Amino acid sequence: MANPHFPERAAVKIVREEYNFTTTVRQLPSYRDQNFLVKEKTGKQFVLKITNAEEQKEELDFQNEVLGFLAKSDPPIVCPQIIPTISGEKITAVTSMDGLSHYVRLLTYLPGDRLVDIKRHSPELLSSLGRYLGHMDRALTKFSHPAMNRNLPWNMKQADETIKSRLDDIKNSKQRKLVERFLQEFEQKVVPVLPDLRTSVIHHDANDYNVLVEGGLDKKIVGVIDFGDAVHTYTVAEIAIAAAYTMLDKKDPISAAAQIIKGYHEAFPLTEPELEILYYLICVRLCTSVAISANRSKVAADNEYLTVSEKPAWNLLEYLSAVNPQFAHTTFRNACRLSPCPKSAKVVKWLKDHKRNIGPVCRYDLKTESILVFDLSVGSLDIHNPKQIENVNDFTKLLFSQMEAEKAKVGIGRYNEARLLYAGEQFKSEDGDSNEQRTIHLGIDLFMEAGEPILAPLPGTIHSFANNKMPLDYGPTLILQHQIGQTSESFFTLYGHLSLDSLDGLYEGMSIKKGEQIAKLGTTEINGGWPPHLHFQIISDMLDKKGDFPGVAAPGQRDVWLSICSDPNLILGIPEDNFPPAGLSKDEILQTRKANFSKTLSLSYQKPLKIGRGWMQYLYDDEGRRYLDAVNNVPHVGHSHPRVVKAAREQMAVLNTNTRYLHDNLVRYWQRLCEKLPGPLNVCFFVNSGSEANDLALRLAKAHTKAAEIIVIDGAYHGNLNSLIEISPYKFDGRGGSGAPQYVHKVIMPDVYRGPFKADDSRAGEKYAQYVLEEIEKIQKENQNVAAFICESLLGCGGQIVLPENYLKNAYRQVRDAGGICIADEVQVGFGRVGSHFWGFETQEVVPDIVTLGKPIGNGHPLAAVVTTPEIAASFETGMEYFNTFGGNPVSCAVGLAVLDVIVEENLQDNAHKVGTYLKKSLEKLKDKHSLIGDVRGLGLFLGIELVRDHNNLEPAAKEASYLIERMKDCGILLSTDGPLHNVIKIKPPICFNEQDADLLVRRLDSVLDEI
Ligand SMILES: Cc1ncc(COP(=O)(O)O)c(C=O)c1O
Repeated sequence: MANPHFPERAAVKIVREEYNFTTTVRQLPSYRDQNFLVKEKTGKQFVLKITNAEEQKEELDFQNEVLGFLAKSDPPIVCPQIIPTISGEKITAVTSMDGLSHYVRLLTYLPGDRLVDIKRHSPELLSSLGRYLGHMDRALTKFSHPAMNRNLPWNMKQADETIKSRLDDIKNSKQRKLVERFLQEFEQKVVPVLPDLRTSVIHHDANDYNVLVEGGLDKKIVGVIDFGDAVHTYTVAEIAIAAAYTMLDKKDPISAAAQIIKGYHEAFPLTEPELEILYYLICVRLCTSVAISANRSKVAADNEYLTVSEKPAWNLLEYLSAVNPQFAHTTFRNACRLSPCPKSAKVVKWLKDHKRNIGPVCRYDLKTESILVFDLSVGSLDIHNPKQIENVNDFTKLLFSQMEAEKAKVGIGRYNEARLLYAGEQFKSEDGDSNEQRTIHLGIDLFMEAGEPILAPLPGTIHSFANNKMPLDYGPTLILQHQIGQTSESFFTLYGHLSLDSLDGLYEGMSIKKGEQIAKLGTTEINGGWPPHLHFQIISDMLDKKGDFPGVAAPGQRDVWLSICSDPNLILGIPEDNFPPAGLSKDEILQTRKANFSKTLSLSYQKPLKIGRGWMQYLYDDEGRRYLDAVNNVPHVGHSHPRVVKAAREQMAVLNTNTRYLHDNLVRYWQRLCEKLPGPLNVCFFVNSGSEANDLALRLAKAHTKAAEIIVIDGAYHGNLNSLIEISPYKFDGRGGSGAPQYVHKVIMPDVYRGPFKADDSRAGEKYAQYVLEEIEKIQKENQNVAAFICESLLGCGGQIVLPENYLKNAYRQVRDAGGICIADEVQVGFGRVGSHFWGFETQEVVPDIVTLGKPIGNGHPLAAVVTTPEIAASFETGMEYFNTFGGNPVSCAVGLAVLDVIVEENLQDNAHKVGTYLKKSLEKLKDKHSLIGDVRGLGLFLGIELVRDHNNLEPAAKEASYLIERMKDCGILLSTDGPLHNVIKIKPPICFNEQDADLLVRRLDSVLDEI
């Protein structure tokens, strides 16, 4: 039956005559009915629904009653409500031009965007949809209506009938076979349990055209519309249907389904049998959809709405045909916080009860033998370079020499350990957006010489075997099946990295006795390229796999896989005291911090990161997720750069004292540093932080000028000491600040984007410098004198601002004319970061009187410096000693020297120039695409992106900026926001950042900006 086709003027007439108001109308898409969006003069909106002539009045009354019932439930469920006609009818009849009679209803309009139009379905959004449906279905358990058992081909109760009767309409035989397969599974797995399922009235069609979402950055479910498919059926069908549609076009459909199931279960717990068949119901719903579409496309080829989800549905069915149902079940259970693999409890209990009957897996009894437990975790001291294991011979030497030193017969690699060792393609995550690799080890490794015999710890049969040849794979692998006592259930043990001849003569089903030699350990050449070792794993459910099984899992699926693969030590029996205590969980650290540390210490990100390792431009969290670090400028030449680490380690091992003793390093470092600075700057003071450096710079300036007044730039930050909070507008004008002290004089930021003089004004620098002159004149009017003008060479906290040409030249001249000292704060930007020059001030063609250095100078080691002229230094020589316990110690100087060496040897200044220019250009291109980007600025690898909602009034987009930072972190890239309006994205990575890193950053930024 075709949809009704009333013209818009007829709809206007119906509204006027039946509901007594004048409107404008616009037709909306509909599956079966004809819907109009009705707009009253006041702006109030409604939906006029004209039903198909086939529709029964009783069924419409059923829908109306559902809506009314939900609105009255406690708490009320948001959904459209019926507006009665002027004569009080909830349903009225009209006749079309062709003489057919149709029913008409007017409903309130729910504002919101359709879920289908939302670019990103975040886990939170999907869970909230699940919760909404859960609340709705819980309320509806108390609802009944005479028409609720209506005949509906979509009804899950009629699914096999609906599909079977339309199978022939699926013309593509491959597709038809796919549907037949799912139908068969449905009949085998679901039909027998159907009588035990809960039934109730449900919405029955929460597809993403029917789900409305409140826009903005924190998207929320508004409600669900179109109750035209509501029916009394299996309650669980609700979530199966919603999940099926949610999974369409998702990179990781099972995880998406898990999120919606999680929310539903929180609001209205699913039963265990419901969870068991959910995967099959999802598949069968998709089959219903494609079968009905195939049938309808014959009848109503022009109804676009009918076939809208057909292609993605076929793709999803194809995908699901390769997903193990049991794995989906386990994932869904995990989402509901139920033990993911319930069978494992039986396996664990049986192994514990029978621990005396279990034999060893090798010649050595691990309960008593001397063993060495290795730390192969993210934070391992032995493996400090994730690339280190690429040289397997070195890796082998490292492990086996440690075993020899400890006289250990066997080296142990731990279960449930997050590792960075798995660098192959096969360990990459399915979800291309995320930064997850498979990192969590699911077995225990036993490192022994190749050729060592491997024994069966329990009797069993050979389940399967294979040579898994890929690099970093298992090589020859054997899997045994063991019966759980006298039951029909069994579990499995896996033996990986065997010798090739271990597989000779084996066959599936072959009996194995306890203690029987089942294999020998393989060599590196055959075992996937690893040091010789046995990977031993317990598996409760083989998930239909043979000869292979994942030995490492992605952190996001950690609980699921650990539940399927219990701790192999249940069989090996290694005494627990061999294993170091587990590290603190994120929650433990957070709670301890909350309870015992000052709230003034902040944390990055809503879900803070626990970082376990840094390596060059990357950081790795404790579960091995890799983050591209685009924001930390302290690890200037790269996190844990081996050259710097070596310098610190070696000097630390020999001597660390203070400047009261003579040491080469102090003078060597002074010489190297001053070689990098212009002529008159050649007296150095070494200190421990940027703050200390700036504090000392102020003392020097005051001593030299005998004056007290300081001129600072608005928005600037110069450090955390008392003296520096007083000269940092970022702090004294910010939250908790108490304004500028009298001696501090603020000038506006020379910001050519927001300030009065713009980038296209060639004299902007001079004009901004006029403000400095005005402050000087004010100071002099008060009969005071300028001690110093302090200015960062590029403004960091001010929002990554590049000073306009001639700004410092003019400002310095004016300050010096007034007898003041010019301090360049290079704490953020020095040491080649700006690319074109080694120091930021050089880009302004000035030479300061004092330069302060920090952050990058020690690559993370607490080192900082003040460099000045001999005259200024002389003024400080008043007889009072300047002693700094740690400043200039031999270790710090060794570190400083190593940093300078690396910058030169690795050509990092040029790299900052090249990559920075490339990145800035790419970001500028992005600006043309995304109107949120107001300005892209910066020099070298010190860049900023200012986000605005409006390019005319420059309304700052601070919320969008923090959304972007959070999402970029989800995508594996670390950035942060700054600027007085908190709307500037800061980019200041370690300067070993390369063009591929820049591309990745821009690609991710592009897709996250698309979400906003
Ligand atoms: C420009 C500037 N100067 C000085 C400091 C203070 O350095 P530190 O934190 O090492 O004391 C900072 C720190 O963020 C800074 O950005």
